[in-house]
Amino acid sequence: MHKKIYEIPEDWADHALVSAERYQRLYDFSFRDPEGFWSEQGRRISWIAPYTIVKDTRFDPHKVSIKWFEDGTTNAAMNCIDRHLLTRGDQVAIIWEGDDPSQSRRITYRELYEEVSRFANVLKKHGVRRGDRVTIYLPMIPEAAFAMLACARIGAIHSVVFGGFSPEALAGRIEDARSEVVITADEGVRGGKRIPLKENVDKALTRVSAKTVFVVTRTGGEIGMEKGRDFRYEEERESVSAHCPYAEMGAEDPLFILYTSGSTGKPKGVLHTTGGYLVQASITHELVFDYRDGDVYWCTADVGWVTGHSYIVYGPLSNGATTLMFEGVPNYPTVSRFWEVVDKHAVNTLYTAPTAIRALMAAGEEPVKRTSRKTLRLLGSVGEPINPEAWEWYHRVVGEGRLPIVDTWWQTETGGVLISPLPGAIALKPGSATKPFFGVVPEIVGPTGEVLHGACEGNLVIADSWPGQARTLWGDHERFAQTYFHAYPGKYFTGDGARRDEDGYYWITGRVDDVINVSGHRLGTAEIESALVAHELVSEAAVVGYPHDLKGQGIYAYVTLMQGVEPHDALRKELVSWVRREIGPIASPDAVQFAPGLPKTRSGKIMRRILRKIAEGEFGTLGDTSTLADPAVVGDLIKHRAEV
Ligand code: WTA
Repeated sequence: MHKKIYEIPEDWADHALVSAERYQRLYDFSFRDPEGFWSEQGRRISWIAPYTIVKDTRFDPHKVSIKWFEDGTTNAAMNCIDRHLLTRGDQVAIIWEGDDPSQSRRITYRELYEEVSRFANVLKKHGVRRGDRVTIYLPMIPEAAFAMLACARIGAIHSVVFGGFSPEALAGRIEDARSEVVITADEGVRGGKRIPLKENVDKALTRVSAKTVFVVTRTGGEIGMEKGRDFRYEEERESVSAHCPYAEMGAEDPLFILYTSGSTGKPKGVLHTTGGYLVQASITHELVFDYRDGDVYWCTADVGWVTGHSYIVYGPLSNGATTLMFEGVPNYPTVSRFWEVVDKHAVNTLYTAPTAIRALMAAGEEPVKRTSRKTLRLLGSVGEPINPEAWEWYHRVVGEGRLPIVDTWWQTETGGVLISPLPGAIALKPGSATKPFFGVVPEIVGPTGEVLHGACEGNLVIADSWPGQARTLWGDHERFAQTYFHAYPGKYFTGDGARRDEDGYYWITGRVDDVINVSGHRLGTAEIESALVAHELVSEAAVVGYPHDLKGQGIYAYVTLMQGVEPHDALRKELVSWVRREIGPIASPDAVQFAPGLPKTRSGKIMRRILRKIAEGEFGTLGDTSTLADPAVVGDLIKHRAEV
């Protein structure tokens, strides 16, 4: 464990929204009296009918039920737009920076109101009603935010699918959500390359059906249009009014579904509702990032992930911020791109992922140093544990030693940040997400589920609910209860391991389930395995993660071929592109090892622990292999280990 401590800089200690003293006082209050704390904080958003009930939550595995502000009514789009119009109608809400550095757009709150209203009216015109699911498969263009907010405005439930997912993965998500409307673009653009989004939708819709597809024009590239089903968004937009009233939604009405990977096969449709989610997104955006009126705030995530939902769209816009949306990648056209964007738009807060930091670190200091970055006040990190070397580089080179870094731990299921430094309140330790946010009660449990005290290491659970918590998995409350509440009854199980040090700081050690984190993207090993066995020459597959310098974790696949099929290099390549096609490029295996046999117990369970060790090259610590049905397979696996 890294021992270094960075004390709170003086100007931060004196001027931050939350000082060390205030953090302690408010945290204690939120812990002692969660209802009292959230009753006050709930008022940070605007309500149509105010709530009188604050919290009604049960973690009992047999009747899990989570409700916040349940009798209040509000609308998320109203909170992100309408309530700012009087005071900041002409302020820029969204700065869009294109993949090509010569392209950018600035959208004021008033323009946002009109764009979202038009999009909402188009949806309405085509029969979209409250509670309907709308799948959004768009690149990082402002229309992605317009579409999300348009759904929120009329009470439809959006399901954003990351533009890097394959037609197959998209089809699965459309089907699971029973979504009849898809919003896409002709093509996406990233790093100078085009992504055939509409073509992917067409392929997905050969497997599942949808009534209506709206196509936003991004490149003008050639696409097919199916009459009666596909509509050009720009044409539809012209046919409707620029005013659309917002729907009055219950606090517990669904706002969105977001699919994420779990330890078993099918992706899970994590469901977030309206009131509590928005309160969480808003308070964490303000306090974790010490957001001030007039700040330009940049979260580099894609809106296809929860980070984009909470910290590009809902958090910043509910707070009336200027949020930057970037279409491109960190290394295009040059490895200075991030810092050039910071200078071009006078960015004050930069929130990115360790994988991007590591990649930029590998390019050296010069590309950073040739930019000014003088507007930056604060840096953030999210998505995976940040290794202390990357943290130090981010701090020293990007932040010139003067900018605090907030390393924020959270999950799709948590809706907003749960463990993170507040920059004016908590001294930093590189690699540690530090302390719980207000109202968050983390605990570390040992092997038999006992709560550990003091400095310790074990599994991370959260002992009580918070407003931004996911309410269920779409269409499968049983799986929700099973996944998160059965392992440690009465507590929410995060799936992460963690260490707490003698100062009460939390150090997230990574997933303890069969989920791997590749470049900050969550992938289920089971998902990749089922993609592999779908190939006609594959009889069995086992996938594990291993440490990877840039990606955090790499994907290592053990593949058993059908009887009589000879392993060869071309087949290895084909399997890699097969997985790309089935799931998407983020799931491409980094290594494929052909394995005539896998280490199994006598009851047929694959011993993943052994496979992980072999992938890591840790042959000395394989542990007990005597319980295997055929211990000899281990020697063979070691002998033919793939190059990583
Ligand atoms: C990991 C992303 C360490 C963790 C917001 C978690 C982190 C999973 C951090 C959720 C962090 C996220 N330090 N690990 N600061 N942030 N993680 O759902 O394993 O895409 O369970 O949400 O990412 O990934 P998800």
